[in-house]
Amino acid sequence: MPKPAPVRKAVLPVAGMGTRFLPATKAVPKEMLPVVDKPVVQYAVEEAKEAGIEQFIFVTGRGKHVIEDHFDHAYELERLLSSREKTEQLNSLLEGLPASGSVSFTRQQRPLGLGHAVWCARHFVGNEPFAVLLPDDLLVGKPGALKQMMQVYDKVGGVIVAAEEKPLAEVERYGVIDPGVIKGNVIEVKGVVEKPKAAKAPSRLCVIGRYILQPEIFTELDKQDKGAGGEIQLTDSMAKTIGRMPFHAVTTTCARYDCGDKVGFLQANIAVGLSRPDIAPALKAILKSVKF
Ligand code: UTP
Repeated sequence: MPKPAPVRKAVLPVAGMGTRFLPATKAVPKEMLPVVDKPVVQYAVEEAKEAGIEQFIFVTGRGKHVIEDHFDHAYELERLLSSREKTEQLNSLLEGLPASGSVSFTRQQRPLGLGHAVWCARHFVGNEPFAVLLPDDLLVGKPGALKQMMQVYDKVGGVIVAAEEKPLAEVERYGVIDPGVIKGNVIEVKGVVEKPKAAKAPSRLCVIGRYILQPEIFTELDKQDKGAGGEIQLTDSMAKTIGRMPFHAVTTTCARYDCGDKVGFLQANIAVGLSRPDIAPALKAILKSVKF
């Protein structure tokens, strides 16, 4: 197989309402909630950069402008830190910044679903393959999840989704894969169903928030068909491209935390905190002292 076209662009949909995390997300986007000391969305941008992404396309909505500010220079703050010789803090700001001109923002004017949010990025993506990262799904590991998916993409091309096996009781919250041939951590996808009832789920393999897609998906998304929950679902359009191009799922070695969920978010903070040498000793001591 000839080497597939490179994936240079990533779409980050951040226009969701975050109703599972109210009241915290009333005025603060859930993507800006910090895991230890970085907003959730920054982890996704770093993961994408590591995977070779050069262009970041955010699909935002009402009340999400602080995400734009986060990925911009903060001159007064930078000057203040520099004059006080707070080099470490200054570097932590500068390291997180994407290169000038590499970030674009478009707006999903109404939250009609993930498929609709991705469709809103169509003119920025153009006619080339692209990645989608849902920032509230925090994937922690080395190499990062998208890089692991890119390694598979370079061999098989087409569409790649990240997947995780879930207990049967949880599958109705996800897109669920009908698996074909399984080779190691790479699973051929024969079908995918959004939010099936447990009894009708084709497997327990659930799609999680990382995708490599082909521009043909926009032809399906153009139809604006509504699916589960009355939303325009990304899964439904992906499913329609099966048979027209290779479609695989990859189970990565990363740990996943659903930071759009209160318990998932707490778990992410504890896990990332415990992995950080500067925080772990104090955090361990606190956890040991907590009375249950
Ligand atoms: P979620 O399923 O987490 O939905 O979206 P939500 O609205 O953000 O949160 P809850 O369920 O009300 O708590 C998954 C991803 O899709 C984006 C979200 O921002 C998130 O990254 N999304 C979802 C959009 O950008 N637009 C939409 O219309 C829906």
